[in-house]
Amino acid sequence: METKSIAIDGPSGAGKSTLAKLTAKKLGLIYVDTGALYRSIGLFVLRRGVASKDEAGVKRLLPEITLEMKYDGSGTQRVILRGEDVTDEIRSPEVSIYASDVSAQTAVREFLLQMQRDMAVRYDVIMDGRDIGTVVMPSAGVKIFLTADPEIRAKRRYDEMLAAGREVTYDEVLRDINYRDTNDSARANAPLKAAESAIVVDTSAFNLDESFDKILDIINERLTGNGAK
Ligand code: DC
Repeated sequence: METKSIAIDGPSGAGKSTLAKLTAKKLGLIYVDTGALYRSIGLFVLRRGVASKDEAGVKRLLPEITLEMKYDGSGTQRVILRGEDVTDEIRSPEVSIYASDVSAQTAVREFLLQMQRDMAVRYDVIMDGRDIGTVVMPSAGVKIFLTADPEIRAKRRYDEMLAAGREVTYDEVLRDINYRDTNDSARANAPLKAAESAIVVDTSAFNLDESFDKILDIINERLTGNGAK
């Protein structure tokens, strides 16, 4: 039987992971956070002292990288890099920039593509990233492109980081968002863009509950042909 697949793409801080996690729980799907894979490669490159834009250097490191995705009892995805759980460490601003830089490189994208597709074949998934609807799961049953104004995304990310006890300023977070927006959209390889059949949802004026309702409506309508409500 074919598995269910839902693709959520969009820029950093649009709420993809929060909404995808909630949706996964509600609909009994596996949530796959593909950004965590790029982040893990970014972390490895950083630890090895290789510049994030040194394509040849990054490519040389790839054969040393093994990545696994595991799910703990609460269904939370853990990322295991060469046997080490790096789930928390990959969230730093420094790793965000490394992840964005290495993700522009063909060798890195090819390295991760099959792993993501295998997950989609094996499980009912909701997968978030930048190229899920366009490249990783072009035949996904539902494609959503989630976005919001950069300042709003920065504020949400900043609040999240403060709550997690990280020392950052709003300006740093906004700078990071702007850098990654440009980098992720301008690259030649699988750039950030909405798939043709994606439904674009701008959450700038929505709170979390409103955004979640909207997402569920779209999924319901696309998967069953029924609009909820
Ligand atoms: O979703 P995130 O912020 O954790 O992703 C980190 C970086 O990884 C992001 O700046 C771009 C890259 N990425 C990508 O190129 N393709 C994906 N499917 C997911 C993430």
